[in-house]
Formats: sequence, structure tokens, C-alpha cells
Amino acid sequence: MHVEFVTSTPDLAGRPDTVLPEFAFLGRSNCGKSSLINLFLERRDLARTSGKPGKTRLLNYFIVDDRFYLVDLPGYGFAKVSKVQREQWRRLFRTYLAAQDRPVAVFHLMDVRHRPTADDREVAGWIREAGHPCAIAATKIDKVGGPRRAGHYREIVGGLGADPDTPFIPTSAAKGFGRQEMLAWVEALLEANREA
Ligand code: GTP
Ligand code: MG
Repeated sequence: MHVEFVTSTPDLAGRPDTVLPEFAFLGRSNCGKSSLINLFLERRDLARTSGKPGKTRLLNYFIVDDRFYLVDLPGYGFAKVSKVQREQWRRLFRTYLAAQDRPVAVFHLMDVRHRPTADDREVAGWIREAGHPCAIAATKIDKVGGPRRAGHYREIVGGLGADPDTPFIPTSAAKGFGRQEMLAWVEALLEANREA
């Protein structure tokens, strides 16, 4: 994959001039987002762990193979953020997800070990309201023993109130699981987009 950083922006006005399908990566702080992006892009350190959780308030655009954008959004739900930072986070997410002027699809990342929080449910609600295609990516599945995984998956889907036919992709950046399934979903949407 050929990947280039395009731009970082705190608002919609700063998005790239060229419109292409965008795949947004959303998830709680520490859910494994940077690791999964690096797995997906086959890069070691593209999505660097940003020093202080909750501080990054930017949409980070990368262009992949000149075909689509990967948009890295800040991790949310970090306990130690101020009210002001929390409001900035909410505004950024709501604005980005509510925009209907560009083709956006979302990978909603969920640490397989944890039940969805109120923040996770709120984000899921914004994605649904906007009508964007969404896949749930369960992260760090190597942390839960095989036989117990299905139960965790059900709790994630149920806890988010997700449609049962929402694509659900188990992943592990540590073990290299899930990349092909993520790519297949991306390719299917790119194909649908071309035909539209
Ligand atoms: P912030 O940017 O700090 O919000 O975190 P993040 O969501 O980008 O997560 P990051 O990729 O930095 O991973 C957080 C921690 O989980 C790190 O200690 C990773 O090594 C670990 N981790 C990430 N993915 C996996 C995985 O698939 N398996 C295991 N076992 N650990 C993982
Ligand atoms: Mg990160």
C-alpha cells in the first residue's frame, strides 16, 4: 500500500480539496486504534501513539493508493479530560459525522475486553443517524481466549445497539488478525461507490 500523510485539521473547512471516499477510524482512547491502523496500512509507526490521550483534537488525513482517505480521529472517553476538552471532542465528532457532503465509512473500534460505554453508544448513535456504512472492529482479540470471544462479541453488538447485520471484524494487531477482512470491506464499499 502506498500511504501519504495529507493534512491535519480541527474542522471541516480544512479537509483535503480532493473528494475521495473516507474511512474513519474511531475508538476509545487505548482501544488499540494506532496499532490497528498500522496493521491495516502495513506500517510500523504511521499512527504514532500521541503522547497525551485526549489532547489531539484533529482529523488526520492519509491518502492510500490515491484511492481513498484513511481518517484518524482522536481517541475518546479518556477519563482525565476537562469539560472543555470533552466538548471539543464531541463537537469535532458530531460535525465530522453529521457532514453529508463526502462519502464517509467508519470503522468503530471496540476493545474486545470491555463492554461499550456511554461514550461508545453516543458515537454509535451519531454514526447511525448520519447513515454512514459502519463496521465494528473488535480489537486485541488475542487478549480473550477463543471459546470466550463469541460472548464478548455479542455484548459489544448488543451494548452498542448495533443492527445485527452490521459487519463485525475481529482483529488483533499483535497477531496480525483481521487485515484481510478490513480490506475486503473497504474494497466492497469502494466498488459500490464507483457504481453509484
Ligand atoms: P491512544 O492513542 O493512546 O488513545 O491509544 P490507541 O487506541 O491508539 O491504542 P494503541 O495502539 O496505542 O495501543 C494501546 C495499548 O494496547 C498498547 O500497549 C498496545 O501495545 C496494546 N495493543 C494494541 N493492539 C493490541 C493487540 O492486538 N493485542 C494486544 N495484546 N495488545 C494490543
Ligand atoms: Mg493512538
